[in-house]
Parts: sequence; structure tokens; C-alpha cells
Amino acid sequence: LENGLARTPPMGWLAWQRFRCNTDCVNDPHNCISESLFMQMADIIVTQGYRDLGYDLVSLDDCWLSRERDARGRLQPDPFRFPSGIAALADYMHKRGLKFGIYEDYGNFTCAGYPGILGHLQTDAQTFGDWGVDYVKLDGCYSHPVDMDKGYPEFGYFLNKTGRPMVYSCSWPFYQIFSRMQPNYTAIINTCNLWRNFDDIQDSWESVQRIIDYYGDNQDDIVPNAGPGHWNDPDMLIIGNFGLSYEQSKSQMAMWAIFAAPLLMSVDLRTIRPEYKAILQNKAVIAIDQDPLGIQGKRIYKDKGIEIWARPITPVFQRHYSYAVAFLNRRTDGTPSEVSVTLRELGLDFTGGYSITDVFDGVHYGTVLPDKRFKVDVNPSGVVLVRCDLVKSTGFGTRS
Ligand code: DGJ
Repeated sequence: LENGLARTPPMGWLAWQRFRCNTDCVNDPHNCISESLFMQMADIIVTQGYRDLGYDLVSLDDCWLSRERDARGRLQPDPFRFPSGIAALADYMHKRGLKFGIYEDYGNFTCAGYPGILGHLQTDAQTFGDWGVDYVKLDGCYSHPVDMDKGYPEFGYFLNKTGRPMVYSCSWPFYQIFSRMQPNYTAIINTCNLWRNFDDIQDSWESVQRIIDYYGDNQDDIVPNAGPGHWNDPDMLIIGNFGLSYEQSKSQMAMWAIFAAPLLMSVDLRTIRPEYKAILQNKAVIAIDQDPLGIQGKRIYKDKGIEIWARPITPVFQRHYSYAVAFLNRRTDGTPSEVSVTLRELGLDFTGGYSITDVFDGVHYGTVLPDKRFKVDVNPSGVVLVRCDLVKSTGFGTRS
């Protein structure tokens, strides 16, 4: 969507994967979906450096709503869990240099059974604008996938009409693919800033791998749709939760960077262990994810559990790209696998060569020419992510 927003993939924190629909603030006040949970996460995002690295969104997901609309037909939050109201929560974020995201559903109900927007599109868009919302995730439970081709653009029209810039996150293609429909990606690109194509992420390596496979197996259809203002959304980062090992967490982060994916953390930032926080805060990976060209990467090799993925990035020189290359090891034989390639085999054939740096351990391999063999050791269920920057020769024997 060309609304001037999301020129690079959105980054921030989303409640759903980690906190789900926990509405029990009586017995579990610390973890229930309430304004205080979002305020606590915002405070940590600011004080612990996440915001300054680009994670500037804090977003509600399902289960923030009251079961009833107000007397004038407007949405309202659960009064016990959000006593200050949504405008105040949005304001809390804005005062801290953050953006505020909200969740709704195109159907009659949200997936968890709260009021949906069907029949109230204009009112609800206006309410979000009035509250100071910056980002809207629109889910698709309790609606017909066929109607979405009309409904998602219609709600987008009303969002636009409020005059308040709001990032528009759609679940539209996901529900259509789920119903065996062929999504109209031209319309989706024109309507949404990001969209989900595939199943909800769960807290497991198996789930992460299924998403990676979906993106690889369908890359010819979906990769060309990504670009500044319009992104494929493989769903939240689960790094720091219960289901991924350290290696697997690096793999998710690396692959999401290759995908030019929104980086939406869903983790308890109050208790995340330092090594997982370091993965989320790795500047070099974030820089790949946020590369200004916005070209999504592709799987270029897959055999016996080893995959190689490559994403064109800046700097560009004489129509050659630099690349981020991920070597992913899906094998489970408990020892690192050696992968040996030439850059030319990966399609990197710039004669000046590439300056290669390992993004996680910082090792610098120096300048590697296209036909020189290049080896990495990749841990089981782990990844080696390297940045291959074009080496531009000035023509006078010096390198810059
Ligand atoms: C389905 C979505 O895909 C999830 O991300 C989450 O928003 C849930 N619905 C909430 O009910």
C-alpha cells in the first residue's frame, strides 16, 4: 500500500503468541491482557534499547475488547482490564516515541469471539483514528473469504478517510489460501502494508520450519510481492519463549531477515534471557531485514537437510547487488555440517569480489572472489548468516 508507511518491514512487539487470550486478571494479573501489560512492555522497549534499534510498535492482539459496543455503537475495551481507555494507552506509547497498534477482525466476531467490524466499518475506522492508533491488524475469522476481496479494501478506504496514517496489516490472503482460493495479490499489495500468507506460528521449531518451507516452496508466487510499503508477514518472532533452542532462535532471526519480514517480537521482555535478547538486538541482522531495497530473499539450494538462501541487499554497484546469504542446517545428526560453495555457484559473480562478514559471530572473511571456495560449519538446526558486500574497486588499486 502506497500510504507512505512501512517503507521497511514494521518492527515491534505483539501480544498474541506469548500472552494469547489470558483475560484472567483476578488470578493472573501479571500476565493477563491488560493495559498494564502493554505499558510494562513499552517501558522495557524504551529503557532496554529495543526502540532505538527500530522496534517502535507496541500492539494489542485479540481479547482487548468488551463483549458489547457502547450506546452509540462504538467499540470499547474491556473496562476492567483497560480502565484508562485506548486513547490513553495510545498516548502512553506516543509519549515514549512508540507507535500503538490495535487488533480487529473483518467478520462478525474476532477469532476469540469479541465483536468484529462487519456492519461497522466506517465507525470503527473512525474510532481507531480518534484514539490515535498507528497500526491496525485486521484478522478474518467469522467472515467469508470470498467477501474479503471487497471488505479489506473497503475498510482500508475508511482508514484512509480518517486522515490519520495507519499501517494496515491484513490476514486476507491467509484465509483465502486456507479456503483454497487464489489470492489476488495485486489488490492485496494496493490495499495492505503487510499480510499473512500462512498458518499462525506456534512455540516450536517444527512450526518455524513449516513457515520456512511454505516461503521456499511458494517463493515464485509470493517473493515478488514484497517491497517498500508492502510485505509478506511470516508471523511473530518466538525467540526467547519456551520452544526454540539458542541455535533455532538464531535460525528464526536469520530467516526472517532473509524474508524481509516484519520483526514482531512476542515474548515476555520482563524475563527474556540475555542471549535471546542479544539475538533480537543484533544490529547486523536487523540491518539486513531493514535493507532499503526491500527485496525478499529466495531459497537457492536445498539438499539433504542443507539449505542456502540469498537476499539481494545494498550496496548496489554496476547493476550488481550485495547479498545476505543464510546457510541453514535442518539435519539432526548432532554435529556441525560443513558447507562449501563458491560465490559464483550462488549467483554472486561480481569480479571485484565480496567482503564477507558473519553476522552472528562478527568473523570477517576478507574479500572473497567469485571462484574461490568458501566454507562454513553450520550447527544442527542452526544457521550461518553472512553479509557479502560488493567490493568496489576504484580502478587505482585501492579498495573502498
Ligand atoms: C488468528 C491470527 O492469525 C493470530 O495471529 C491471532 O491474531 C489470533 N487469530 C487471535 O485470535
